[in-house]
Amino acid sequence: MTQKLLFVCLGNICRSPAAEGVFLHLLEARGLSNQFLVDSAGTGGWHVGNPADRRMRAAAERRGIHLPSRARQIELADFGNFDRILTMDDDNLQAVRSLAGELGARSDLALVEPMTSHCRRFSDKEVPDPYYGGEQGFEHVLDLLEDACSGLLETLTRD
Ligand code: 4NP
Repeated sequence: MTQKLLFVCLGNICRSPAAEGVFLHLLEARGLSNQFLVDSAGTGGWHVGNPADRRMRAAAERRGIHLPSRARQIELADFGNFDRILTMDDDNLQAVRSLAGELGARSDLALVEPMTSHCRRFSDKEVPDPYYGGEQGFEHVLDLLEDACSGLLETLTRD
């Protein structure tokens, strides 16, 4: 059965498109692409339609990872369409939980959890926003996401 994952950050131009690209890259390497549907979205709508940030794409390309997505804003239908929603920081987690609250207590909605809960090597609690910082911030985002994505994939393919 296809597992449906949605990665969420604030603008959907740095962290969550990177998470999407890293996870897709892992799936391809392991021959698992047909078992997953992967997407990303932002809690904010400022960058809707834009490709991922140029600095984020360049950092990912240096690791052989392509970031193909265009920004979109999370919507209520996502909670019914995806199995898991993975948030990058505490603000995103709160915003997503608050949005889910509009749907009431339903058992058929996506599980919402922090991306870093799947890290095995790093103990960071958030994937920090790299937008206003330097190049090192984008590298750290990718280090965290590579760790979290491989932990997540291991969890989801365990059974
Ligand atoms: P992201 O980073 O949430 O990782 O996509 C950001 C991108 C843009 C802005 C903030 C964070 N912004 O304020 O425009």
